[in-house]
Amino acid sequence: MITAGSIEANPDGFTLTDSDFEAIADFAYKHFGLSMSSSKKPLVSARLARQLRQQKVTNFKEYLDRLNGKNSAKERSDLLSLLTTNVTHFFREPHHFETLRTDVLPKLIDKAKSGGRVRIWSAGCSKGPEPFSMAMLIHSMLPDVGRYDFKILGTDIDPQVVSFAQAATYPAEDIAQIPAEYKTLVPQLEAGGKMPEHLRSMITFGVLNLIEPFPFKGKFDAIFCRNVAIYFDTPTQQKVWQAFQRSLTPGGYLFIGHSERMSGPAERHLKAAGITTYIHTPSSGGAQ
Ligand SMILES: C[S@@+](CC[C@H](N)C(=O)[O-])C[C@H]1O[C@@H](n2cnc3c(N)ncnc32)[C@H](O)[C@@H]1O
Repeated sequence: MITAGSIEANPDGFTLTDSDFEAIADFAYKHFGLSMSSSKKPLVSARLARQLRQQKVTNFKEYLDRLNGKNSAKERSDLLSLLTTNVTHFFREPHHFETLRTDVLPKLIDKAKSGGRVRIWSAGCSKGPEPFSMAMLIHSMLPDVGRYDFKILGTDIDPQVVSFAQAATYPAEDIAQIPAEYKTLVPQLEAGGKMPEHLRSMITFGVLNLIEPFPFKGKFDAIFCRNVAIYFDTPTQQKVWQAFQRSLTPGGYLFIGHSERMSGPAERHLKAAGITTYIHTPSSGGAQ
C-alpha cells in the first residue's frame, strides 16, 4: 500500500480519494449501519481493489455508481462481506450456552410443555453455527422438541451467509470445533457434514437488516446478537438494543458479544444477569 497525502493508491493502481472513501463510508452507514472512521481507509482501499478488478470497474466513482444503481443487490452484499467478517463457530463463547442450559431452557421447556409458544432468535447468525448450537442443546434437553411450538430464527443481513446456513453443510474442520460434550448431540450428521433433519427443522433462516424496523408480530424468549453491534456506532447500537428489548418477553434474555456493551434507554429495562447477558425486567424502569 502506498499512501500519498490523502490519496490511497494500492498495488492494483486504483486510487481511493478522501471523497471516494467518505462516499463508501456514508453508503455503508446508511445501508448497513457500519461505522467506519478514516483509519479504515487503507483497509477499504485494499479490500475493494480486488473487487473492482473482478467486476472490471475502472475506478471508485464508477463502483459507487453501480452500488447506487438498479439491480445492485449482489454488489451491495459483496461490499458488506468485504467490510465485515463472518467469523463464527459452534458453541462460541460457551458461557452463554451454559446460561442457556441452566437458567433459560428449563423454564422455556416448561412453557413449551404447557402449550406455550417459544421463540429464540440468533440475530446476525452468519453461516449458522450459533443457531445450530442452540438446536443441539435444546434437542439434548427435549428430544421430542418437534412435538412443541419451539422454534429458532436465524437471520443475517448478508444473503450469501444465509444461503450457506440454509444448506446447513459444514466442513470437517468446523464440525471438529464442536466441544466433546456436545459432539454426541449430532450423531446423525448426514453425508458431507450436513446437519441432521431433526436440527434443521427447528430453525428458520432469513435475511434481515438489524438497523431497519423488525417485521415480527410476536416476541422472543431469548435473543443472541453477538459480535454484530461491534460494527455500529453508539447511537446505532443503542437503537438496536432498544429494538431487542422491545422484542423480548418479560423475563426474556439478551446475549451480546464479549466486546460489546449495553447502553442507552434499553439499560433501564435490561438487568445484567451474567457476562454480557441481560434479562428483560420491564417493571423495573417504568414505561417501555
Ligand atoms: C462476526 S459475525 C457474528 C456471527 C455470530 N453471531 C457469532 O458471534 O459467532 C457478524 C455478522 O453480522 C452480520 N451483520 C453485520 N451488519 C449487520 C446488520 N446491519 N444487520 C444484520 N446482520 C449484520 C454480518 O453479515 C456477519 O455475518
